[in-house]
Amino acid sequence: MATATATRTALPLADIKKDRRDEIVGGLNASLGSLVDLALSSKQAHWNIKGPNFQGLHALFDEIAAGVRDHSDEVAERVRALGGISRGTLEDVKTATSLPKFPATETNWQELAKVMHARLVAVSEELRGRADGMEDDLVTQDLYIGIMGALDKWAWMVEAHLG
Ligand SMILES: [Fe+2]
Repeated sequence: MATATATRTALPLADIKKDRRDEIVGGLNASLGSLVDLALSSKQAHWNIKGPNFQGLHALFDEIAAGVRDHSDEVAERVRALGGISRGTLEDVKTATSLPKFPATETNWQELAKVMHARLVAVSEELRGRADGMEDDLVTQDLYIGIMGALDKWAWMVEAHLG
């Protein structure tokens, strides 16, 4: 993995030691992998869903895909602000994601809702683990917390379809 280099940025960043910055960048890139995977998963569910709740879940999965993609962009750009290299290629994402393989041929709305709910919760918990104890980089911590809030809200919305 590329190491973080010094950047001409705001003073609080300069206060973070290089080793710690590399560690934070590694965590951000791991989060990036899971978020890109999650966005792709949600598009897959959006495309293939079938059933009585088609319209609502079809639209919700598209909203989640777009929203998660936006959050992945914020994470990748935070990596750059910290002087690291953003790792968002297909190969990087395959290596970095913490999510299990998506059931690629699934079309049943209940199964897709359950799978997407589990994936949203899993990524939220992953980010929670990274945000915990990040008082030395409040901007990254705040970024994680903001994304966790969005993931939790989408998890609730997907779960609501399951009754
Ligand atoms: Fe679409």
